[in-house]
Amino acid sequence: MQNIRNFCIIAHIDHGKSTLADRMLELTGTVEKRKMREQFLDKMDLERERGITIKMQPVRMKYSDYILNLIDTPGHIDFQYEVSRALLAVEGAILLVDATKGVQAQTLANLELARKHNLTVIPVVNKIDIADAKVEESAKELMELLNIEKKEILFVSGKTGEGVPQLLKTIVEKIPPPKSSGDKLQALIFDSFYSLHKGVIAHVRIFGGHISSNETTFLFHKKIEFKPLEVGIFSPEMSKTGFISSGEIGYIATNLKDPSLVRVGDTIGQESLPGYFEPQPVVWASIFPQSTDEFENLKSAFSKLRINDASLSFEVEGSKLFGRALRAGFLGMLHLDISVERIIREFGIEVIVAQPSVEYELIFTDGSTEKIKNAEMFSQSEKKVKEILEPWFSVFVLARSSDLSKVLDLIQKNKGEVLETKTISEDRLLLVSALPLRKIVTNFFDDLKSATQGYASMSYEFKENKPADIVKLNVFVAEDEIPQFAKLITKDEAEFESHRIVDRLYEILPRQLFALKIQAGLNGRILASRTLSAVGKNVTAKLYGGDRTRKMKLWKKQKEGKKRLQESAKVEIPHSVYLKIIKRD
Ligand code: GTP
Repeated sequence: MQNIRNFCIIAHIDHGKSTLADRMLELTGTVEKRKMREQFLDKMDLERERGITIKMQPVRMKYSDYILNLIDTPGHIDFQYEVSRALLAVEGAILLVDATKGVQAQTLANLELARKHNLTVIPVVNKIDIADAKVEESAKELMELLNIEKKEILFVSGKTGEGVPQLLKTIVEKIPPPKSSGDKLQALIFDSFYSLHKGVIAHVRIFGGHISSNETTFLFHKKIEFKPLEVGIFSPEMSKTGFISSGEIGYIATNLKDPSLVRVGDTIGQESLPGYFEPQPVVWASIFPQSTDEFENLKSAFSKLRINDASLSFEVEGSKLFGRALRAGFLGMLHLDISVERIIREFGIEVIVAQPSVEYELIFTDGSTEKIKNAEMFSQSEKKVKEILEPWFSVFVLARSSDLSKVLDLIQKNKGEVLETKTISEDRLLLVSALPLRKIVTNFFDDLKSATQGYASMSYEFKENKPADIVKLNVFVAEDEIPQFAKLITKDEAEFESHRIVDRLYEILPRQLFALKIQAGLNGRILASRTLSAVGKNVTAKLYGGDRTRKMKLWKKQKEGKKRLQESAKVEIPHSVYLKIIKRD
């Protein structure tokens, strides 16, 4: 164990974690030169196409007499749960800062996480090969942040490899070797994925004892015995060793085929480790299979995806009109996009995603409360609502001082409140504010990027639930309320949203034999209304010649018939129309 070092690379998005990992893989001879490709540890096609890391990825390297276990982590805030889990499996973290950008919001958030776990932090300034990199300024920011001297900072280029040998040496010198908790097996499951042939494959850090592929072992929380099919390490591909012991990072092929049995955070062994907190989703969306008979496949796909993405949560929801769907919770809009894309690509299921929503809390006049994730659930509540609460988040924006007024404008426009400003360096500051979550997940981040030409970065965390100016927009077709079309909006959006939804329905609803009234509004007050004219039927087509009185008679009869129809109108709204309306824009 004295010769093992376990560490992560943490940073803001795009600061160069995966590229630096490439150089380490090369220098330690872990990956042969001819097999090397850029961002080697980003294994998924989706990661390579989008140029972002989605999954943490462990790898074992040999360096002189040492074993280095590195876990590359994602940088985007939506995947921070990956980082927090990786940090619990290691003793040290390389805090990487892109010298062209300096310290950014996720640098701060990830540093805080590393400190919480008492990890040894090695500060590194990256991308020093770039001509206009602000190497000195970035170092100064790190010195202030960590309260250290310049000599403690390393300067590297993940691209050219400059400074990386020195960094490997520093890892061995500064990061402490792992300590054993004893002879009894204690393995923390920090990640997992599903294999058709080997069942759930758990990624583990062994804290005590050892595990081998021919010994029966135990899943602590599920109280299940199992005999591993295979035990091994990542080098970087899975490679069978038959045995891993205290201080090591590796994998265990459990041969358990039921995805619900193996949970990230569980311990393999007879004595439990602390495990992980459950992440709280920030946005919810209903996911429908394109074809209703694919529902069971969709559910099974989500269960398997969840094995590889512990931050995903979902429950089955049933709607008479829409059929069965999954109501799934995500850690942000990118997480939603990536998860849906993975369901389509990895499981071959086409899906329709409804407009996402944050979670609101209804407070009823009798004092009881209920959490709702869409307006349909609101419609189902029979009790009188006294107040609606919505989540507010603390938002940490790191920006150039010269952009301060633009950022303040944006916070104000999104109904936020500024709480605090702190100086990070001569020309950059940290602005702490509070904003309603629904504003953060819709457009705040994009607006911030464009207002500051991409210079500002942000991170956020839950703050509190606060009374919201939220109302339910009701939609009526042929004077019947259609609860599935209801929407939760703010009062000031009511006029615009009413017209938008009425116009949309006017375009897509099939015309009927009678005129169809389409309306939207709040609590009995109609704000938008349009009438879709009836399909015309030429009732006099069969009459030859000009018998005017006979024609008049038929027209009169038709008019009366339409009136009768309208009075007893029951509109059959096709399933496809429902889906078009609730579908995400
Ligand atoms: P996420 O995991 O998605 O947060 O990204 P990352 O931190 O792993 O960054 P990645 O390694 O994907 O690098 C982001 C971009 O910066 C890529 O285009 C790299 O080629 C580039 N890059 C990384 N390191 C260096 C460096 O030292 N010098 C230069 N010039 N470019 C670099």
